[in-house]
Amino acid sequence: MTPTLSDVESLARQAGDILRAGFVRRPGIETRLQVHYKGAVDLVTEMDHRSEQFLVEEIKRRFPGNSILTEESGNHAGDACCLWYIDPLDGTVNYAHGVPIFVVSIAYAEGGSVRLGVVYDPMQDECFSAERGHGAWLNGMPIQVAQADDLDGSLLVTGFPYDVRTNPQNNLDHYARFALVSQGVRRLGAAALDLCYVANGRFDGYWELRLKPWDLAAGGLIAAEAGATVTDLNGGLEYLDMPCTILAANAPLHAQMLALLHSGFEASSSELSKE
Ligand code: 2AM
Ligand code: CA
Repeated sequence: MTPTLSDVESLARQAGDILRAGFVRRPGIETRLQVHYKGAVDLVTEMDHRSEQFLVEEIKRRFPGNSILTEESGNHAGDACCLWYIDPLDGTVNYAHGVPIFVVSIAYAEGGSVRLGVVYDPMQDECFSAERGHGAWLNGMPIQVAQADDLDGSLLVTGFPYDVRTNPQNNLDHYARFALVSQGVRRLGAAALDLCYVANGRFDGYWELRLKPWDLAAGGLIAAEAGATVTDLNGGLEYLDMPCTILAANAPLHAQMLALLHSGFEASSSELSKE
C-alpha cells in the first residue's frame, strides 16, 4: 500500500499528541524530564523513544516491508524502493528544558526521491505538509516563501552542531558574518521547523551544517514546494547525503547567501565540502 499525505499527517499528529502529553510546562516547579546524554550537548528523552516507537510500529503495521530510517533506532531495513525518514522529536534540547519549540518530522521517499513530507508542531497545532509537484500547506492552506530579495532586511535562521565545543566546523564564523549583514539571525533549535518557517515566509533564509537526513527530509521538501531553492552549502542538490549541510531561501537570496558563505573565506571553504 502507498501512503497518502493524509496518512503521514495523521501519523505526525498522533506522535505530536504523545510529545504534548509528556511536555513539562513548568520545569522550575515540576520534575524535569529524565535525559540521557549521547554527547556533551546531545541528549535524548524518554519521549523521543515513545514517539519513535509509536511511529515505527504504525508504519510497520500499515506499510509492511517499507524501510525506515530513524534518529534513535537507526535503520529498519526493508524494500529499497520505499523509505521513511523519521525524527520523532526534533528540538530535543528545547523539549528537555521545557521550551515549547519542537516538532515531529516524517518524510516518505520512493526511488530515492522524497515524495511526501510532514512537520507537526504540537504546541502551536501547526501541521506543515508537502507533496512533490503539488505544493506545500500549513493546516491545509497553501504557503509560499517570502519574496524579499535584499539580505539587509532579511530575518535568517541557523543552528549549531552538538559537537560545537570540539569541532572547528561549528558555524560560529558563518553566524558572525550573517549577523552583520541581515536584520537578525535566529536560532530556534529545531532544523525541521526552521525549514518550515522559511517555507511559510516567516524567515527569509536558513543554513546549517552537520545535520542528519531525518532532520531535513520533510522540511526540505516543504520548503522546496513552497518555492525555496534548497541545496547543500555547495549549491548541490544532495543535501540528504551525510554529513548533511543545507541552505534554503528564495532564489535571489539563496544566491547571495551562497556567495557570502564562500566569499573571502578560502581557508575554510573546505569545511563546506563533504568530508
Ligand atoms: P534534534 O533536536 O532532533 O537532536 C539544532 O541545531 C537542530 O539540529 C536540531 O534540529 C537538532 O536535532 C539538530 N542537530 C544538531 N546537531 C545534530 C547532529 N549532530 N545530529 C543530528 N541532528 C543534529
Ligand atoms: Ca533532529
